[in-house]
Amino acid sequence: MLKDSHKLASALPPTILTIFGATGDLSADYLIPALLHMDKRGLLPADFKLVCVGRRPLNNQSYLDFIIKKSGAIKGITQKEKASFLKHLIYFEGDFEKPENFKALAKILADHDLPKSPGAGKKGRGKNLPPVHACYNRVFYFATNPQTFISLAKLLKSTGLLLSCVDHNRQVRVLVEKPFGYNLKSARSLNSLLLKYFNEEQIYRIDHYVGKETIQNLMVARFANSLFEPLWNNRFIEHVEISVLEKDGVGGRANFYDRTGAIKDFLQNHILQMLALIAMDEPYNLTAGMIRDEKLKVLEALEPFDRQKLSSRLIKGQYLGYRKEVGGKSGTETFFTLKTYVNLPRWAGVPFYLRTGKRLSKKLTQISIHFREPVRCLFKGCSANVLTFQIQPDEAVHLQINGKIPGFGVQLHQANLDFSYKSAFFGEIPSAYERLLLDFMEGDQRLFIRSDEIEAAWKFVDSITENSQFKKLPLHIYKPKSNGPKEADEWIKKDMKEWWTK
Ligand code: BG6
Repeated sequence: MLKDSHKLASALPPTILTIFGATGDLSADYLIPALLHMDKRGLLPADFKLVCVGRRPLNNQSYLDFIIKKSGAIKGITQKEKASFLKHLIYFEGDFEKPENFKALAKILADHDLPKSPGAGKKGRGKNLPPVHACYNRVFYFATNPQTFISLAKLLKSTGLLLSCVDHNRQVRVLVEKPFGYNLKSARSLNSLLLKYFNEEQIYRIDHYVGKETIQNLMVARFANSLFEPLWNNRFIEHVEISVLEKDGVGGRANFYDRTGAIKDFLQNHILQMLALIAMDEPYNLTAGMIRDEKLKVLEALEPFDRQKLSSRLIKGQYLGYRKEVGGKSGTETFFTLKTYVNLPRWAGVPFYLRTGKRLSKKLTQISIHFREPVRCLFKGCSANVLTFQIQPDEAVHLQINGKIPGFGVQLHQANLDFSYKSAFFGEIPSAYERLLLDFMEGDQRLFIRSDEIEAAWKFVDSITENSQFKKLPLHIYKPKSNGPKEADEWIKKDMKEWWTK
């Protein structure tokens, strides 16, 4: 993230990335496609091994074929690309809940630590030089059911896999997928258990939204342009909208989703992270510590909901057909919108409208900053300026301004100053997972979430989902391919506003 110059990945120390849960959807849809793409673009360490742990009886070749078939994200892979990827790949068949499997896994990892002579393979040279130790950095990706995180950590420790290598400065890190807990209590307990095995600097809690290109641009837009920051407060900003509209339903994750719901699935992490980046103060510098300190202040300042506020500031919805997908009666929300405040002087009185839903009319993630209308407008029809960060699809930043329609007389219209990534830049934009995997291997924690941020976010979410009013609120059924329940539109209209992402 925000690197002055991206350290050449190939200059990274020898690295072994072990993925637990390598045959699951996350691996097929995101992790392996990202790694394949990184391999193609030369973004993997020069000495890189990928150990994929899964229960299925597969070998390296059949594992790759299995993933290519399963994944919707790998298209047009060539034989050359496959062959190159297979050079890194070690498929390890084993039930990672069985301790005996770890011994065999430990051996594979340890075998890569054998000393290599610098003269090996070169006749007559390097005979008297001390051996160069190929001590691999060990990075572990927990892409499994969260219930297994702690047993995995325990087994890694008991088989000696977490041992660092003092002589060669081996780094050991772990990346933990979401969901990180299901409320404040469970997140705290997970944090304290993980901290028994790793220190905070070794733990990478992922939120893939933070790795998205346009999210990266939020800090740059705010802190690299003198134009916005003086206006970034309640004197000039009237409200903020963060909308994440999804086209897909719950698909194959119905079971998980039904226990989770949109608020825990999306608000606790992705939406609150975006909000923190929009609302935070400028960090003193770009270290992980400083950036996270500033985000934390925002998360801690979110106004919690009491019963009364919850009733008037939250709308829940569920798409028609959802119950069929989960196979029964369900009160789980697949849509929500809420209004909240950040109790910091900069944001006093500025509402933040947050919204997400599944099976809506389109896929669109946008953050819009709505400035106040001019205090006095000389012309008829002045509108408020709106700065929009379009996160996906089609990454862009738009600024809506008032302009004059050419001709006699003065008639205003709203024009957009558009900055579209597609027209401004050539080349591919790296996926969030590519960026995050690279940062993980480099040991850069800036885009990962610290324990206290996670806990502050859960504290706020608990004030909603553990509020005695939460279950009593009506669940509005909405039609698939719509914009959500009509009650959400009526609700925002009461505040004299309408959704910017219509
Ligand atoms: C995941 C959520 O974290 O993000 C899913 O669990 C959601 O419910 C997904 O669909 C959205 O990610 P993206 O990158 O496709 O917007």
